[in-house]
Amino acid sequence: MINIAIDGPSGAGKSTISKLLAKRLGIAYIDTGAMYRALALFALEQGVSPCDEAGVVAILDNARIHFNYNSLGMRIFLNDRDVSEDIRRHEVSKAASDISKIPAVRDRLVALQRESASRADCVLDGRDIGSNVLPHARYKFYLTASAEERASRRFKELREKGADVDYDQVLKDIIDRDKNDMERAYAPLIKTDDAVLIDSTSLTIEQTVDEIARRIDKDGI
Ligand code: DC
Repeated sequence: MINIAIDGPSGAGKSTISKLLAKRLGIAYIDTGAMYRALALFALEQGVSPCDEAGVVAILDNARIHFNYNSLGMRIFLNDRDVSEDIRRHEVSKAASDISKIPAVRDRLVALQRESASRADCVLDGRDIGSNVLPHARYKFYLTASAEERASRRFKELREKGADVDYDQVLKDIIDRDKNDMERAYAPLIKTDDAVLIDSTSLTIEQTVDEIARRIDKDGI
């Protein structure tokens, strides 16, 4: 199977870019962050803090995560309930970053990701795809942009949805989440030496997809 790993920090546009790239190549898209978010949502709904490792481990077996596709794209399910919208809530973002530090959580989701990637050609986006989930992926990219650019994109997106947000708070959340994801002990966000760095700070979405697709087309898929 041909796997394309796209890692990078929050707000770098990984999911938008990965979705478009997968569509262009005619292969599947797997959003691994959605899996961490679904487990984080489960913990929040069970009244368990995503930072409480023992508490999370105790409820882990009660959460069944799976995904499938419909005309809206990849849908994520928590115990057969479609939670694709609920997991985008602001409080779930921080909770997902916290819960992703727990080794038992990562082991569970990495197994699901490897199994899914072995069944179809796909683009996977996340934090540790190239470094840990699929170290032998055919293509690896590390997609980033400056924290300020990522914050202003997120700020615009939230404003368009009618949210009452403050730019400085959005920037702070991005910086905190970067720190959380990069400094965790187990499978932190890193750029591996064999990943191609794509800095989208001054690129449009289309230009970023072109930049990645160009490197893939070169070797064929
Ligand atoms: O990509 P995202 O913002 O939806 O991811 C939510 C959180 O999940 C992110 O802060 C870190 C974690 N995550 C991870 O640790 N490993 C992945 N492969 C994907 C996401």
